[in-house]
This record gives sequence, C-alpha cells and structure tokens, in this order.
Amino acid sequence: MSGAMADNVILVGFMGAGKSSVGRILARRLGRCFVETDEMITAAEGRPIPEIFAEKGEAHFRALEDEVVRLLALKRGDVIATGGGLPCGGGRLEALRAIGTVVWLAGEFATLYERALSGGERPMLRGKTPEQAEALYEWRKPFYSKADLSVDTTGLNPDQVAARVAAALSARQRQAV
Ligand code: S3P
Repeated sequence: MSGAMADNVILVGFMGAGKSSVGRILARRLGRCFVETDEMITAAEGRPIPEIFAEKGEAHFRALEDEVVRLLALKRGDVIATGGGLPCGGGRLEALRAIGTVVWLAGEFATLYERALSGGERPMLRGKTPEQAEALYEWRKPFYSKADLSVDTTGLNPDQVAARVAAALSARQRQAV
C-alpha cells in the first residue's frame, strides 16, 4: 500500500520540536485521531520511558520502536507523533513514509535544546554536554530531511505550526490531483 492510501500524518523531529502539542492540535483541526509512539511504548511496557532506558538501555528502546512501527501499519488517517530518535535508523523513516505523509518539524538547535531540557526527563540528553547534544542533532538531520514535507517552527507557537502543517498538507494534496 502506498503512504497516500493509508493517509496518516506522521510528525518527526528532534526533541523539543513540539511534535506532541502540534500533533494534538492538528488532529483536532483535521478531525482525526491522535497517536503518540512514546505513549504506545509506555502503555505496552507499563513503565515510563526513562525507566526503560535505565533498565534495558537504548538498543532495547529502539527495538520497541521497531515493534511500534509495525503496529502503525494498521492505522488509517491518524495523526501520529513519533519520538525524536524513532526515524533515525533501522529503516524506520522509510517504513513511516510507506504508511502516510511524514512531516519534519524543523527548528534551530538552540531553541529545540532549551525546550527539550525544560520539558521533562529526556534520557537521550542525560549526561550529554550541549556540544554532544548538538552533534546528535546534526547526526539525525539527514534522516529527518528525508520526510515528505518540512515545516520551520522557528518563532512559531504550536497553533501556528499546526496551521502551517495543515496548509502544507493541503497544498500537497492539491498538487497530487
Ligand atoms: C528520544 C526522544 C523522546 C523519547 C525517548 C528517546 C530520542 O521523545 O522517544 O526519550 O531518542 O530523541 P521526544 O522527541 O518526544 O522527546
């Protein structure tokens, strides 16, 4: 099945990009269901993500993300917010593109980093210097940039970003007919 047929909208991007808040607003706007991969993992494992990282490590968490991506293939027409590292390896970005339109919420590293640090525990930033966190961001960018669409979030609030994503999706749909 092509991504267009499954018709999901999948948000990717670095920690702090606003995938969850934007996703929730976008889903309401489009009258769609909202799903978060981190929530799916937390629900399946029965414990919070920092605990999964602490007890089983990153490789185990990525294997759980692989399983989630397989389950996402059953979704139709949902708005899906992904964890920041999910599309970055293991063919997961390509798998997401096969089940919908992938949208990269892009932004400047400094802003994303600041937001990520102030917004709850992020195991991938734990013990990292700002320079190491920026190196991770740079390493991940080539994956994010393979998204179908990219929206620059710089200086915008979640409502404004959701409006831009909705506009970009409509423009893409118009081009396709
Ligand atoms: C991760 C990002 C987190 C969560 C996990 C790993 C990452 O999601 O999936 O802590 O590798 O960047 P957010 O992007 O919502 O913070």
